Amino acid sequence: MRKIVRDLGYSLAVLGVVIAAVWVYSYVDTERQYNKVYTFAVSPQLVPHDSESIARGQHFYNVYSCRQCHGADLGGTMLIDNALLGTIGTRNLTNGKGGLQEYSGQDWIRALKHGVNVTGKPLIAMPAHETALIPNQDLLDILAFCRHQKPVDRLLPLTPGPLFRILMAFGQIGPLPVAIIDHHRKPIKRVKEAASADFGANLAITCFGCHKSDFKGGASQIPTLRSAPDISPTGRVGHWTAGEFSRTLRTGVTPEGRRLNNKYMPWKRFKDFKEIEIQALRAYLLSLPGRADRNVKILDQTRHE
Ligand code: HEC
Ligand code: HEC
Repeated sequence: MRKIVRDLGYSLAVLGVVIAAVWVYSYVDTERQYNKVYTFAVSPQLVPHDSESIARGQHFYNVYSCRQCHGADLGGTMLIDNALLGTIGTRNLTNGKGGLQEYSGQDWIRALKHGVNVTGKPLIAMPAHETALIPNQDLLDILAFCRHQKPVDRLLPLTPGPLFRILMAFGQIGPLPVAIIDHHRKPIKRVKEAASADFGANLAITCFGCHKSDFKGGASQIPTLRSAPDISPTGRVGHWTAGEFSRTLRTGVTPEGRRLNNKYMPWKRFKDFKEIEIQALRAYLLSLPGRADRNVKILDQTRHE
């Protein structure tokens, strides 16, 4: 009996040491990542303030999913709030207290294109590797919109918890956007609004976080979320007509009659897409590799709305 108790004691002590070592390693590693200072040269930016740009900025704020995280009032929302993962709030994008009062167009572009804040330190939970692919002009329109909204006084905490740090140190969350952005990429030009693959490519930035950069789908980084299906031509989407694709995004019901759960596939978030934008998305998805594999072309030609 005594031996069992002693062995158990040893095991617990070893376990304690292992946990402590993992924690110390993760803390030190993530502190190093969070506090590294980067310098990126960004040229002065002209921030528009005409009503047309502001209206466009509002539309982009919605369709590029900023609202999803920064809130309908732009004051920021809590993304995560628990003891293990920590308290992760988004930034207040208004001119109120805790917001972006002193923020220039350059600061804005540096954050959204390079993933660092005004002190040069990395953004942690802001998907800057995705916003880095949005045309600069679209981003500046969004800033114009933010500057013209009612100021909100709010400053939310951003404190990664122990599990968040461990997962990040061991590569299960992340890497930080700043580490995966191509910082030498040429500025992305705004494309004329049309039901074209080029225009759709810009909008599809909001899909690849879940459907992956090749749009072939895959498991979510967040274990409680469902994996996303293939929405390239090799998936079911390759067989849908323009109308069917649009109805799926608008109603959350696929042509096969499956209901998409908004919790996993946030189709309600896409209600702000104009029809032309939905068709641009489809044109882009259908332009991806894999179409020939399934002879969907032939299928498409024989199907009419
Ligand atoms: C998945 C959630 C999410 C989405 C989508 C998102 N953000 Fe953020 N954003 C955050 C979080 C979290 C922060 C807090 C900073 C951090 O992560 O370190 C942040 C911070 C920011 C900041 C402040 C950066 C700084 O210098 O401190 C700006 C500006 C910003 N976001 C703009 C945008 C815009 C514009 C969009 C849409 C194009 C957008 N965000 C989409 C989560 C998000
Ligand atoms: C937050 C993650 C997430 C984002 C962002 C997202 N999707 Fe999805 N999507 C999913 C998941 C998960 C499913 C499967 C849902 C289910 O089966 O209930 C899905 C399903 C779909 C389907 C149905 C596919 C099929 O074969 O039945 C289509 C179409 C689709 N998504 C298109 C898009 C488009 C277009 C975008 C961007 C505008 C997008 N999704 C953004 C997670 C996401």
